[in-house]
Amino acid sequence: MSMAKSSSLLAPIAKRLEGKVAVITGGASGMGAATAKLFVQHGAKVVIADVQNELGHSVCKEIGSDESISFVRCDVSNEQDVQHAVETAVAKHGKLDIMFSNAGTEGSIESTIAASDGQNLRRVLDVNLFGAFHCAKYAARAMIPAKRGSIVFTSSSVSDIAGLTPHAYTASKYAVLGLTKNLCVELGQHGIRVNCIAPHAMNTGMFRRTMGVSNEKADELLCEAANLKGVVFEAEHVAEAALYLGSDQSMYVSGLNMVIDGGYSTTNPSLAQVVRNSLQL
Ligand SMILES: NC(=O)c1ccc[n+]([C@@H]2O[C@H](COP(=O)([O-])OP(=O)(O)OC[C@H]3O[C@@H](n4cnc5c(N)ncnc54)[C@H](O)[C@@H]3O)[C@@H](O)[C@H]2O)c1
Repeated sequence: MSMAKSSSLLAPIAKRLEGKVAVITGGASGMGAATAKLFVQHGAKVVIADVQNELGHSVCKEIGSDESISFVRCDVSNEQDVQHAVETAVAKHGKLDIMFSNAGTEGSIESTIAASDGQNLRRVLDVNLFGAFHCAKYAARAMIPAKRGSIVFTSSSVSDIAGLTPHAYTASKYAVLGLTKNLCVELGQHGIRVNCIAPHAMNTGMFRRTMGVSNEKADELLCEAANLKGVVFEAEHVAEAALYLGSDQSMYVSGLNMVIDGGYSTTNPSLAQVVRNSLQL
């Protein structure tokens, strides 16, 4: 079966983020970098906030001019860094319309709960949960006076299906979903929408590091395990979701956990697989 890659996605019909300003955390690679590119193509001014200086600067160069995209060094677990990133965007472009709080860490692979020491949990929560919390705090401060804005978090499909990733990572992504829903209530009073994207496993640096596999092997494993066949899940698919949630096209959408998993979490193929194996089908 031929695989549809993102190059087959439709070309943008119109610029959907003209006049908007976005901060994208974790924008130096993977889903964040793909989103930064799509946002700039759609007319947004983007500030990438990431811990990877060199990569962040080179991604900006690849994507557009200094006016349309810039990099600020930011560790999202550090509140002052996030404040600085948001203030940089506002100082440069006059406002903040979209906060894409996407930076995340996989943490380390724990053996069992009985053997864990809590250090990994603390580090993962520092980045994945406190990072999201800091992003929401400073985005809200910038957006409340304007009475509008869109905050989008990257959670994970593990907020919907359990047992796929270590406890610390799963717990952190559930927490991000909880934060999304609570913020949707508080910030809705100020005209600010808050949503969450929950991607399934994807072949990015994070996945290859966690699994310890090559690029080719990662694609092979993910395609074999996927529910939806004939398409390779790529960062650009998440970027399209972020574009929708960041733009006015989703003007009345808030509190959503947009699961992007090709239907994986709606099915549990294990019984069918066991039956097929036992019947040697
Ligand atoms: N790849 C997957 O299988 C998968 C699935 C579901 C959700 N996610 C989530 O998607 C998001 C993006 O990950 P990705 O797959 O594109 O991986 P990636 O490793 O390509 O990108 C993650 C980016 O976050 C940055 N980052 C890490 N810690 C940071 C910190 N403390 N402060 C600022 N930036 C930091 C990294 O430098 C990197 O540029 C993450 O939140 C991740 O948890 C990934």
